[in-house]
Amino acid sequence: MAISLEFEGKSISINTTWLYESCRCEQCYDATSKSRITSIQQFLEAVNIKVNKYEQENDSLHVEWSNGHASTYDVKWVFDTWTSNGVKLEPYTCVGKELESLPARVDANSLITTEGQRELVRSILKYGIGVITNVEPTLEATEKVIRHIAKPYDLMFGPMWIVGPNEKYHKDPAYSNGSLVAHNDNTYLNDGAGLQVFHMLERDNNGTGGLSTAVDGFKVAEILKQENHLHFKCLTEIDVETEYVNLDSHYKWSEPVIKINSTTNDINQIRFNIYDRTCQPQSRITEFYASYAHFVEILKREELYWEYALQPGTVVIYNNWRILHGRTAFTGKRVFVGCYVSTAEFLSKARTLGLIS
Ligand SMILES: [Fe+2]
Ligand SMILES: [Zn+2]
Repeated sequence: MAISLEFEGKSISINTTWLYESCRCEQCYDATSKSRITSIQQFLEAVNIKVNKYEQENDSLHVEWSNGHASTYDVKWVFDTWTSNGVKLEPYTCVGKELESLPARVDANSLITTEGQRELVRSILKYGIGVITNVEPTLEATEKVIRHIAKPYDLMFGPMWIVGPNEKYHKDPAYSNGSLVAHNDNTYLNDGAGLQVFHMLERDNNGTGGLSTAVDGFKVAEILKQENHLHFKCLTEIDVETEYVNLDSHYKWSEPVIKINSTTNDINQIRFNIYDRTCQPQSRITEFYASYAHFVEILKREELYWEYALQPGTVVIYNNWRILHGRTAFTGKRVFVGCYVSTAEFLSKARTLGLIS
């Protein structure tokens, strides 16, 4: 059963169970704890609820229900909530140099203000990258600026980590001198970090290579979809198992390379790491390899890359669920500090800044 509602010249049909369940009166909703007041019996009653009478009066909707309950709703609220018309920030997918020219560069001092924080967080939401300038090249100063956005995510490398010479402890390709194919980190975690932070502390002037590379994974997926819809679909459906094994830990997770939001159909996450895959054969394996190879082939297209040298003083933040990062091979000393931030903490900050709902 449905109720029809008029709003700004549009007429929409609202499911009655949903409407009943969404009553915000004080018998149905605890505004202090922001949670529903319900029970198993009340929920089952809601599923079978009927409307005795309803009336739309300007901005308000009044409903009398079959169990005697009466509800009053703000029409705009019902419309926005039912159509998920909340505050959103659509990503702009970047090609090559746009990854450098479009994201915000926010001075470290302005991060003490809400305006500065909003500028940085908006940039990460929109372009997948944000940059902080004028940061003292130390671990402590890097941590301090990041904490204006969210606390570092304490994973297996510790809350703040340094990548440099003689790192024998971490058995990971990132701690070698070789080149790294652009990838996402933490694909072996069910709750892998949403943000990744890099800050160069020391770089040998006589060293060669060691440039950072970044590619917008949403753009790679977009191109894949245009060029071969079936390859795209395959990578949204087939799980790829990845793992991380170290002294006393063994992390493993399995999900598709391209994750889709089932409500909006938007791309939610790119989960690509050519190194961390286990030998677990994928389902539909021939189709999988053709699709994965197509993704890799797009990934190596030079026009998609931003290649740059990380500089002391400049902190670069990536959305790890979107931007793939890599590095060219290098010689000489190259020491940088980094950290992760959980997606939950980052999105919570974005909501408190009013950038998303
Ligand atoms: Fe990495
Ligand atoms: Zn109520």
